[in-house]
Amino acid sequence: MCGIVGYIGKRQASPILLDGLRRLEYRGYDSAGLALSNGRGIEVLRRAGRIENLRKLVAETNPRGEAGISHTRWATHGAPTDSNAHPHRDQSGRLAVVHNGVIENYQQLRDWLKTEDHKFSSETDTEVLAHLIGYHYDQSEEQDPVQRLVGAVQAALPRVKGTYGIAVMHEDAPSVIVGARLGSPLVVGLGADEHFLASDVSAIVAHTKDVVYLNDYDVVTITRDGFDVKHLEGGEARVTVSRVDFTEDDAEKGDFPHYMLKEIHEQPNSIRNAMRGRLSRDEATAILGGLQMTPQELRQVDRIILSACGTACHAGMVGEYLIESLARIPTEVEIASEFRYRNVPTTKDTLQFVISQSGETIDTLAALREAKRKGIKCLGIVNNVASTIARETDGGIYIHAGPEIGVAATKSFTSQVAVMTLLSLLLGRIHHLSSTDGLELIDELEAIPDKITDILKQAAHIKQIAEKYAHVDGMLFMGRLINYPVALEGALKMKEISYIYASGHPSAELKHGVIALVKPELPSVFIAPHDAVFEKNISNIEEVKARKGPVIAVATEGHPHIEKVADDVIYIPRCPSALSPLLTVIPLQLLSYYIAVARGCDVDKPRNLAKSVTVE
Ligand code: M6R
Repeated sequence: MCGIVGYIGKRQASPILLDGLRRLEYRGYDSAGLALSNGRGIEVLRRAGRIENLRKLVAETNPRGEAGISHTRWATHGAPTDSNAHPHRDQSGRLAVVHNGVIENYQQLRDWLKTEDHKFSSETDTEVLAHLIGYHYDQSEEQDPVQRLVGAVQAALPRVKGTYGIAVMHEDAPSVIVGARLGSPLVVGLGADEHFLASDVSAIVAHTKDVVYLNDYDVVTITRDGFDVKHLEGGEARVTVSRVDFTEDDAEKGDFPHYMLKEIHEQPNSIRNAMRGRLSRDEATAILGGLQMTPQELRQVDRIILSACGTACHAGMVGEYLIESLARIPTEVEIASEFRYRNVPTTKDTLQFVISQSGETIDTLAALREAKRKGIKCLGIVNNVASTIARETDGGIYIHAGPEIGVAATKSFTSQVAVMTLLSLLLGRIHHLSSTDGLELIDELEAIPDKITDILKQAAHIKQIAEKYAHVDGMLFMGRLINYPVALEGALKMKEISYIYASGHPSAELKHGVIALVKPELPSVFIAPHDAVFEKNISNIEEVKARKGPVIAVATEGHPHIEKVADDVIYIPRCPSALSPLLTVIPLQLLSYYIAVARGCDVDKPRNLAKSVTVE
């Protein structure tokens, strides 16, 4: 989604802004721009397309300035053109704004501003916001330009319906940048003789690890020497300085050609991190203090709702199987975008979890708010500890996967599944799961990272299979029980990065319609580990083969007879079926990755997609 980077200090701003934008590239965008203030005025440079286009423009014009704001835009109102790119100026041309989010009442505001003789040069909601702030600035009788600018922001924003994270500069106040947020994240970076504003901390972590995550309705003023946070309605706001716990290298590709491949290979460690300090052999259970619920409170839970989008939703579906089989608590997955508009029946002891890597997905956030509105206790399963969802939930479980930059979620999926296994173990152990079964699960869980390493060693074999099928137009993914969500996840990965149409199905659904599609040009991927439904999967594979459909099988080692029915087999190590999604998903991630590479796709930045979907 859109990205914001602001800088004020002693250094030239443009290299810092361009580097920060590059670090936000993964979020998805289609144009970029920056505004620099050098005491003589504000210079705005904008380009449609990649940040590289903006970089070239900066190199040609060599703009100077030790304060600046910049932006990557993902088009919502108006096409991705130079003139729709941010920053936008106000009517006077002396104020510049960058904005993340959506101004829902922009048309009414625009019509009203036109009656005040304002002229617009773009189709965006952001330009309306710039004009609105500029209008209040021009109307103000305040003499001090900094106070006047802060006052204009405080006067304009309550008139706006929608979401925003903004950074604003004015030629009259070259020593400040003003920021504000409502529903779109914004963080202040604290440096020596310099300060930063960013929509995501990864944009500024190369410069500082001391940050202040702004809250909704905060209005911040940053200068070279300090910062000040006020409430939108006036008065001082609550400020907490946090320390970022990852380095810029964690957010770099290292020796890997793509973030996605790096993140796939990080999974043995990210799963270890998800489990670290959370397993008790003595009590054969999991310790999840972040839930902030006593065993008595947990024992009362009679229904669980898991809400999420995309990959996180698939992880939730795995969680449903785990919780129901280990703890026998009725559990349902509600797609967050549906839940927010539905009226899901709940009980007094329903417990809801929202699952989100970014913690900023707007539909998941709305599901959380809807649950709270209805009095449902709602916890988070989140990666980004500073995110809005992390802050608005009553507690939860951090997955500690580290920064996930590739748009295609990989390590966050396995870490979400890992923590839901811990949750199921904990819930199981306060109900009827025996300590013997609990300990066995712990042993098996602790063995999972090394088993993933073994699967990763087969990358060359999976690449060969990928190259064999890279030309196809479509693919089917089949799985049963706990591996049905893995089929959905495999299909999602394939679609989003290789642009091959793919769909996931419970294997037995084949006969109910999908089989009509089977033909020699349409490969089917069967997730068929050696579990209670293995033989059923074999029958389904035979049905596909009888119709000349090619089959790629993900199967358990030690059962080579599957090679008699499938064209290609990728083996995973043995494991209990409850944990199998942690292994079966790995070959599917690699398969989609290598197919996308073979097709020449931009793996880390697939078309039309954003890493974090912060607008509805
Ligand atoms: O940040 P979140 O986990 O809330 O994101 C949810 C989905 O937008 C995300 O999983 C999306 O489906 C990914 N692109 C899948 O790879």
